[in-house]
Amino acid sequence: MVKVLFVCLGNICRSPLAEALFREKIKERNLTGQIVCDSCGTSDYHIGEQPDKRTLKNAAANGLHINHKARQFGENDFHDFDIIVAMDGSNLGNIKSLEGNRVGYHLFRMRDFESDPKHKGLNVPDPYFGGEGGFQEVYEILDRCTANLLSYILSENNI
Ligand code: 4NP
Repeated sequence: MVKVLFVCLGNICRSPLAEALFREKIKERNLTGQIVCDSCGTSDYHIGEQPDKRTLKNAAANGLHINHKARQFGENDFHDFDIIVAMDGSNLGNIKSLEGNRVGYHLFRMRDFESDPKHKGLNVPDPYFGGEGGFQEVYEILDRCTANLLSYILSENNI
């Protein structure tokens, strides 16, 4: 079983969408039970809340259902997950500041999984303070990066 955790700041925009997109791809490939995923935020700003209304609206417009309640990243997550995927450099820095001497998990940026070298390693833009168009841009980034992440996991684990 491979366990994947998507992390952003608030856990109401980017990471719950990444989780829902990735889970959909897992289901499509009949890999439920072999790969599992969750999402959380580095902040405590929105703990217990459903995703942002604009995230839900954008997901629905793309035929995707999201059911998630925000939670905060904690030190247990280093033990509970094999792959931790940060949405931007700030999230990555926050995660690293908590990692201490823990080993055994792999930490990535979501856009490490871009195929186009122009996009590789960039931040997933934070759509929270912008307009609704930002949510579709984030959807498209996460759709292609979660697809490439899944291919990476399948090849690394001989699945
Ligand atoms: P997310 O977006 O990290 O993609 O969930 C944000 C959500 C909330 C805030 C910032 C970003 N906030 O400042 O409350």
